Amino acid sequence: MIISGSIEETRKQVKEWKAQGLSVALVPTMGYLHEGHKSLMERARKENDKVVVSIFVNPMQFGPNEDYEAYPRDLDRDSGICEDAGVDWIFHPEVEEMYGPDFSGYVDMHTLPEKLCGASRPVHFRGVQTVVSKLFHIVPADRAYFGQKDAQQLAIIRRMVMDLNFDIEIIGCPIIREEDGLAKSSRNTYLSEDERRQAVILNQSLEEAMKAIEAGEKDASKVKAIIEKKIGTCSLAKIDYVEVVNFDNIQPIETIEGNVLIAIAVYIGTTRLIDNRIIM
Ligand code: PAJ
Repeated sequence: MIISGSIEETRKQVKEWKAQGLSVALVPTMGYLHEGHKSLMERARKENDKVVVSIFVNPMQFGPNEDYEAYPRDLDRDSGICEDAGVDWIFHPEVEEMYGPDFSGYVDMHTLPEKLCGASRPVHFRGVQTVVSKLFHIVPADRAYFGQKDAQQLAIIRRMVMDLNFDIEIIGCPIIREEDGLAKSSRNTYLSEDERRQAVILNQSLEEAMKAIEAGEKDASKVKAIIEKKIGTCSLAKIDYVEVVNFDNIQPIETIEGNVLIAIAVYIGTTRLIDNRIIM
């Protein structure tokens, strides 16, 4: 497994693989890898000849008061996890390699980034789209793997690839959870013991909503109310949003029908966690 910080070297290698007729996968990450990331790598490993993982904490997708500096980083540990998952190449650029001194371009769209996480993180998805576009150009892969954990991100990347004709297939992969149901996240490391115990409330509230839907509930506002009530029982939890939207365009819906995304963001203490259910 090679670790490279060079755009030129990485692109050259991927082009060589392509010239040899090999299929190439890209798994974009910000590092501090866990089982969630590993599941994407393992799926990529199964479905492709070569697997490239990018590890880059992208400053452009963090707002001015967000956790860019504090975001956990550990390349040694990450490379061990990649090696285990059979990754061929880690692309790990410095910020200066990705964003030169006069960098001025960005990729953005309207509608999909406006609600949910985009409402409380106004520059976030512009940063995500920009860096993912750059990664797709640096690593001209056949397929790229994204987790449903970040469902709005997945919907935006799919839309971007369609709208801008990127020649890459986007594969969405299921959410990997801790034993008690908390969705795995690099940010879970911020939680104190007490907060960690209470963080299960995100998954539990979604579980209750799904039970109601399975029992026939179709009214989105009632589904939202079930989630809000459950989270309200948790002393350390503060809701950022609870939304029921169409998964394809991320617009609110009144009735549960079609492709539905139930998405929540909740502060547990000062740590903001997200979780969701997708009904297709
Ligand atoms: P990061 O948060 O590191 O996540 C990288 C990928 O891992 C994303 O596609 C995310 O959805 C997936 N992932 C995270 N936790 C998961 C879990 N518990 N189960 C399944 N998949 C999970 O998302 C980003 O980085 C960045 O925004 C990025 C796309 C790399 C652009 O900078």
